[in-house]
Amino acid sequence: MEKWIGRVALVTGASAGFGESIAKRLVEHGMKVVGCARNIEKIQTLSESLKGAKGTLTAIQCDISKEDQISAMFEKIKKDFGGVDVCINNAGLSYNAPLLSGTTEQWRHMLDVNVLGLCICSREAVKSMKERGVDDGHIILMSSMSGHRVVPNASHIHFYAATKYAVKALTEGLRNEVCEMKSHIRVTAISPGMARTEFTHRLFADDIRKAELEYGDCKAMTADDVTDSVIYALSAPTHVQVHDILIRPTECPY
Ligand SMILES: NC(=O)c1ccc[n+]([C@@H]2O[C@H](COP(=O)([O-])OP(=O)(O)OC[C@H]3O[C@@H](n4cnc5c(N)ncnc54)[C@H](OP(=O)(O)O)[C@@H]3O)[C@@H](O)[C@H]2O)c1
Repeated sequence: MEKWIGRVALVTGASAGFGESIAKRLVEHGMKVVGCARNIEKIQTLSESLKGAKGTLTAIQCDISKEDQISAMFEKIKKDFGGVDVCINNAGLSYNAPLLSGTTEQWRHMLDVNVLGLCICSREAVKSMKERGVDDGHIILMSSMSGHRVVPNASHIHFYAATKYAVKALTEGLRNEVCEMKSHIRVTAISPGMARTEFTHRLFADDIRKAELEYGDCKAMTADDVTDSVIYALSAPTHVQVHDILIRPTECPY
């Protein structure tokens, strides 16, 4: 991770779960991390707790479903830090929204955050790298095992799975486009299975019983387990592009 010391990483959805863990680890590795979310108090608290670490954490409020807010965030990063070297597209969500009874509004919001927000941030990050002549940047897309298989008894997340299947296509598409540019910018997807974060609690709108049922009997992964995969991809030699990491709880059958 030495090459990333002093470089700038944007982590979307840094107020909870994977994003919080990733932001913390990157600061410990000496990066200047910008963490964004709609609720930035937790990022500010994390930033305070990291005073004295090798790197820094700055919170920016940004709703990834709103393009004007994304543009404003990239402008602020340009002004304060020069630009983005690593973009971790982590913000994402699912509603309990089956294909036969979910609302259009729920589906549209998942598309806006999980797909469009991720595309806009990736485009703006590559633009930022190009205008500064950064040839070794890294785009990370937080996908899911739900982008690789459809769990038959989990109708509440079928639309969510579709957004993550989109991320699978976008990973390959982005890789092709940066390759065509003759750039060494790398693109990596991370595809975790079940991990303990706020994700299922939000999915079931804080119905703790339903959220806990989702984990079943298997020991879920932690956010830190997923962060390990991000660090692996970022620290691979420059000529090695880790394309997609599928990481699942050992005990989980699906
Ligand atoms: N947990 C799992 O089992 C699992 C498995 C596979 C993949 N994933 C994926 O991993 C990513 C992170 O999930 P997680 O488990 O860490 O979930 P989480 O604990 O619920 O955290 C989600 C993060 O995304 C942010 N976010 C949500 N909507 C946003 C928006 N409109 N604008 C900006 N930020 C937004 C949240 O911040 P605010 O609410 O403050 O905005 C929060 O920081 C997601 O893409 C998810 O699909 C999760």
